[in-house]
Amino acid sequence: MTNWKRYTITAALPYANGSKHIGHLAGAYLPADTYVRYLRAQKRDVVFVCGSDEHGTAITIQALQENTTPRAIIDKYHVLIKNSFEKLGISFDIYHRTSEPLHHETAQEFFLDFYNKGLFKEVTSEQYFDEEKKVFLADRYIVGTCPNCAYENAFGDQCEKCGRALSPNELINPRSTLSGAAPVLRPTKHWYLPLNEYEPWLKEWLIEGHAKDWKQNVYGQSKSWIDAGLQPRAMTRDGEWGVKVPVKDAEGKVLYVWFDAPIGYISATKQWALDNNKDWELYWKDKDSRLVHFVGKDNIVFHCIIFPVMLHMHGDYIVPDNVPANEFLNLEGDKMSTSRKWSVEMHEYLETFPDKVDELRYVLTSIAPETKDSEFLWKDYQTRVNSELVAIFGNLVNRVLVLTDKYFEGKVPQAGECSDLKTYVTAQRDKISDALEHFKFRDGLAEMMNIARHGNKLLTEKEPWKTFKTDPEATGIVLYDCLQIIANLAIVCEPFLPFTSQKLFAMLNINGTKLSWQDAGRQDLLKPGHQLGKASLLYQKIEDETIEIELQKLKSKAVVVSSIKQETNSKKQITKVEATTEAKGEIQYDDFMKIDLRVGTILTAEKVEKADKLLKLTIDLGFETRTVVSGIAEFFKPEDIIGTQVSVVANLAPRKLRGIESKGMILMSEDSEGKLHFVSPKVVTDNGSTIK
Ligand code: MF3
Ligand code: ZN
Repeated sequence: MTNWKRYTITAALPYANGSKHIGHLAGAYLPADTYVRYLRAQKRDVVFVCGSDEHGTAITIQALQENTTPRAIIDKYHVLIKNSFEKLGISFDIYHRTSEPLHHETAQEFFLDFYNKGLFKEVTSEQYFDEEKKVFLADRYIVGTCPNCAYENAFGDQCEKCGRALSPNELINPRSTLSGAAPVLRPTKHWYLPLNEYEPWLKEWLIEGHAKDWKQNVYGQSKSWIDAGLQPRAMTRDGEWGVKVPVKDAEGKVLYVWFDAPIGYISATKQWALDNNKDWELYWKDKDSRLVHFVGKDNIVFHCIIFPVMLHMHGDYIVPDNVPANEFLNLEGDKMSTSRKWSVEMHEYLETFPDKVDELRYVLTSIAPETKDSEFLWKDYQTRVNSELVAIFGNLVNRVLVLTDKYFEGKVPQAGECSDLKTYVTAQRDKISDALEHFKFRDGLAEMMNIARHGNKLLTEKEPWKTFKTDPEATGIVLYDCLQIIANLAIVCEPFLPFTSQKLFAMLNINGTKLSWQDAGRQDLLKPGHQLGKASLLYQKIEDETIEIELQKLKSKAVVVSSIKQETNSKKQITKVEATTEAKGEIQYDDFMKIDLRVGTILTAEKVEKADKLLKLTIDLGFETRTVVSGIAEFFKPEDIIGTQVSVVANLAPRKLRGIESKGMILMSEDSEGKLHFVSPKVVTDNGSTIK
């Protein structure tokens, strides 16, 4: 695992048409930075690239709507986003732009390589064109009357009223959202990547090759795409804004943004290599280089399927060894969204809390949506800062430095007897390494904090302030150990809390750049007699008032959710149950309709032997009586729930739990304390009634 010669680490290139929020940060940039800092601390050869994704239909349309140019939009946001990342300590080696000529050349070279090898399929099809604005219209930018429910403002890809998936030519009276005019169909030719032809390769490389080492969420999503069968996908678009298609007959056509953007990682590496006298090819073509893409879950298919296929088609390139994508971070009970203004934007956070960057990094890593969606709550942010960073980490550092100052004039006391500190810290270091090597940042962070806890425990047990009068040597030993703990913390906290690490090295008056990850575990990082620097508080407590202000800000800037969405939520009691997370990927109406939800009554309930959590229930579903095993035993006594009406997923495939066949599932709502409650009809309803 650790014998890679070098590392090429990428973080998704943000679209430069708006600011980015802390969900993006937690999803891709923060874990990427933590991983890279860890690699650098190991003195490994690594390049960390990112930059602005400046093309795409969305930016073109936005410019049309705002009566400006794509250039004006991206110039503004490129700088804003780049600066925010810098202030957040995201340590890219380069933050490039896809509008750079070097990028255009690189992307065109890829296109030409495929073109010359005859790998593209050329297909001519009819697409809607807005004659007034002189643009081809992406499906979303066409509205019309739904053929299914007659709703007048259905989108070209879906009717939001009845949920039906549509294609633009099914709409009655189609209109362009840009001009309001009726669009006309025009033939247009595009170049398609025949993804279907690479299914065998994907099966071998991904489905068989990465079943074990990729995260479940990433592997599962990729596999289901491949299993469902891949279609050829157009790699060019009609338009002016983007990388020109470099062949004749391609006037007015540009590369599809998802074709050029990932190539942006390569062009960024090229620019970095030029600036630093390196050989970019080693980072992209040598099989001993480990390519890792950090992205959010909405980018999985592009990084696990399309881009790897492109790299494979080109032939000389390595493909990603891992794509540790995160799920989404919700905010105060709702999905985070910049456009609905339900978000904490990175630059906003920095304006309010310019000196609390590590606090944010700490909280976002502790709640990182590594395996499932998670939630940012301001109250929780406050608690984690106050009772963990301030009370554990900051408190240890402060107490030790103040005591050393008081008893030993700020000099490291003479080393005493060797305790088992070395073994302990080395073991912790290795636990952190192991967690980070496997992209388990939350675990790594927790192990780092355990070291600080260990220090506090030493202080509490040994009470060096009490022993000083009678046994100053004993005081010296404890403080010596605690100082070594702090020096070790300065090393191992660096990937997570780089600003804290810097401050610690300054307070300890040692040069951190000389130390590497391997030095963690040493009990002689600070020599006896060494003069420490000036102590200052690492973290400040966050007051209730501060949190109140943030909550108020959030509520006042939020825009009302589209009325259609609210309607759907209130109509369907069932979806409401999930509204606290409300961030699972969108599904189609047809997907929802696959679930057969019924009302049933619990007839009997009993504990399942040797299973604390399970109850075996029989449920009257009207048309039949079912056995369902449900994980609710912690919350209900069997005798209390008999006769209760519940909602049941009636067509769930049967499963054996503790040898009992369970057929169906009961819907429960989970409150913020993790307690479960039945989702029941408000009035008694016939058993077997459908829920819709
Ligand atoms: N701009 C895309 C997004 O924000 C990410 C592009 S990643 C790259 O979703 F690989 F294409 F660069
Ligand atoms: Zn409809």
